[in-house]
Amino acid sequence: MKRIITRTLAAGAVATLALAGLTACSDDNGGGGSDAGSGGGSASGTVGVSMPTQTSERWIFDGNNTRQGLEDAGFEVNLQFANDDIPTQQQQIDQMITQGVDVLIIASIDGTALGTQLEAAAAAGIPVISYDRLIRDTENIDFYVTFDNFQVGVDQATSLISGLETHFAGVSPWYVELFAGSLDDNNAHFFWDGAMSVLQPRIDDGSIVVGSGQTTIEQGATMRWSQEAAQTRMENLITAHYGGGSGALHGVLSPFDGISRGIITALQNAGYGPTLADGLPVVTGQDAEVASVSMIDQGIQYSTIFKDTRLLAEQAVAAAVSFANGETPTPNNTTDYDNGVFVVPSFLLPVSIVNIDNIVVELVDTGFLTEEQIAAGVM
Ligand code: BGC
Repeated sequence: MKRIITRTLAAGAVATLALAGLTACSDDNGGGGSDAGSGGGSASGTVGVSMPTQTSERWIFDGNNTRQGLEDAGFEVNLQFANDDIPTQQQQIDQMITQGVDVLIIASIDGTALGTQLEAAAAAGIPVISYDRLIRDTENIDFYVTFDNFQVGVDQATSLISGLETHFAGVSPWYVELFAGSLDDNNAHFFWDGAMSVLQPRIDDGSIVVGSGQTTIEQGATMRWSQEAAQTRMENLITAHYGGGSGALHGVLSPFDGISRGIITALQNAGYGPTLADGLPVVTGQDAEVASVSMIDQGIQYSTIFKDTRLLAEQAVAAAVSFANGETPTPNNTTDYDNGVFVVPSFLLPVSIVNIDNIVVELVDTGFLTEEQIAAGVM
């Protein structure tokens, strides 16, 4: 088995580092980018930052990096996480508006559930920056900062195919199952559409067979991106379509590392693997969460998509500074993100595929994760 990081560390060192990692976890500035710059410029006033959840690493980094960058730029910050609960997010934003924040930065849970809050923000003259997830069906947002979400899906499917070519060369057809994210998150649709732009032609020509026949986003969806829900769906698919684990299954498209880990648990429990070298199906992912990067390093999960959330925080901060100074931030995309009411001026950041061969270059050399964190599998 090819292990790039863990093989270089003695077992004792790994255990010590695991403990160090757990301690570091409580540090607001720890890991995944302690480094968001101010995005340039300075300002004063208060910014309300509403993040969806702390159950996934990336949103914690997003929240902390955004707060840090805003504070460096001279703002006061009210940062709230909403536990993936829509009424909680609505209340938190209501409170920020009542408090009189000068700018709002919002990563929504349900992209259509904030209409009332955004009307109030508009009435109070508060500019709203939609963060990573597009807020839909409203005219009351001013800017969108995100990654190239269609490309994320293209990259996920492209890496699924390269994993199949590597680990199941000569097999035809490849049996694959498809998972999508939460339908109320606009990104889930971009990821799916990007992935299907690569996979659909192969499904049509028969070189990929979706054993369950479940090929619509609704069938593949995972409410709130839940790891548990994904594990349950994978277990049910294995029971119903793969003889409880005796059937050939070569790959699973997964849109997020948490979902990937649920899928992998179900696969391993059914007797697949436990590693790619032992026949574990190729599973993709997204976010370069440390637990998944560790599994990639150990030859278990095949790939993830790296989105440098430090840069996203930087863009959000830069946009907030512009608005606070009465200016308008400059978009780099004015065509792709129609929220149902208008095409929202957007700033898109690039993404990259990470697999066992480029963990160090993409994640360690860029300072996103340390080798010790990856070896330990925790921050
Ligand atoms: C984000 C992904 C993330 C997912 C689940 C999406 O909106 O773009 O990076 O994996 O939410 O949190």
